Amino acid sequence: MSNTEDSFPILGIDYVQFFVGNAKQAAHYYKSFGFTPRAFMGLETGSRDRASYMVQQGDVRLVFTGALDGDSAIAEHVKLHGDGVHDIALTVPDAEESYRVAIERGARSVAEPEVFEDEKGKVVKAAIATYGETIHSLISRSDYSGVFFPGFQAIEGSEDTSGFGILNIDHVVGNVELGKMNEWVDFYAKIMGFTEMRHFTDDDISTEYSALMSKVVWDGVGKVKFPINEPAEGKRKSQIEEYLDYYKTPGAQHIALSTDDIVASVEEMRKLGIQFINVPGSYYEEVKSRVPQIADKVDALQRNGILADKDEDGFLLQIFTKTVQDRPTVFFELIERHGAKGFGDGNFKALFEAIERDQAERGNL
Ligand code: FE2
Repeated sequence: MSNTEDSFPILGIDYVQFFVGNAKQAAHYYKSFGFTPRAFMGLETGSRDRASYMVQQGDVRLVFTGALDGDSAIAEHVKLHGDGVHDIALTVPDAEESYRVAIERGARSVAEPEVFEDEKGKVVKAAIATYGETIHSLISRSDYSGVFFPGFQAIEGSEDTSGFGILNIDHVVGNVELGKMNEWVDFYAKIMGFTEMRHFTDDDISTEYSALMSKVVWDGVGKVKFPINEPAEGKRKSQIEEYLDYYKTPGAQHIALSTDDIVASVEEMRKLGIQFINVPGSYYEEVKSRVPQIADKVDALQRNGILADKDEDGFLLQIFTKTVQDRPTVFFELIERHGAKGFGDGNFKALFEAIERDQAERGNL
């Protein structure tokens, strides 16, 4: 199917846009992740219906957008879902052509191609729908030299985006309804020519412990990886079900940010109050034998609550934040890869077993 892949080239994730209740405060919060607010639109720039901030770290751009008007689609989105991801935007060489191909293959249109222009050049943008109310904008920006997008004003002195060492987006995970995972895997195959990524997961084990089923679709080169989760019967209420209960529709569950020094990144974030999920001490007794590659740094990992996993190709370190808004929906992951192509599936089992060992010690299992 190389023909299909060639006809939907993707250069990367352009940005991830959140609709939020208060964009100004959301942008400030992400400074604690090492992000720098770089561009702004709002009343001061002539935008009458929305305030929007683009924050950047490495190649990662997050956009936080809030409504200035109670009837707008943004306000409706926030009312229904709480703060959450509206747009996982993709950079493509030719947005008009990508849009045409997507629609021809059956994608639902959200916005026809439109040229946006200012004195720094022009950007072409179109959009198609994906799961829930989430969309994929298709963006071509080869003729644009501005800080972000026409209509946004650069925030002075914001050029240094080195932050806490985040480099790019490793993957974005979607939670979909029970029984719909394969439908969305097929959607990405049909519309974008994505293939299912084999990552050696043991489905039975991850189902028993984490109550989810997951498949990963990708572009074949690694610029875009989209794991798709659906809830499954497990030992406990599925975390995917909880998400769907509060988000009210399918949506983006977590965004994984890659770093080449996860210990340093996490230490900086912890200093500024970012909270991560707790890992029982007993996890670290087991991890040395499961992932022997990290034996010499277990202390630093344990001190920071960082997890480790391995697959045939190497190992990875990862950590998950607690959810980042009032509703238990969206969270972030930090990931440092050393060859491993997986997503940390081994940690589902290891984490639950560690928790159960602690329970057993308390006589509660
Ligand atoms: Fe992940």
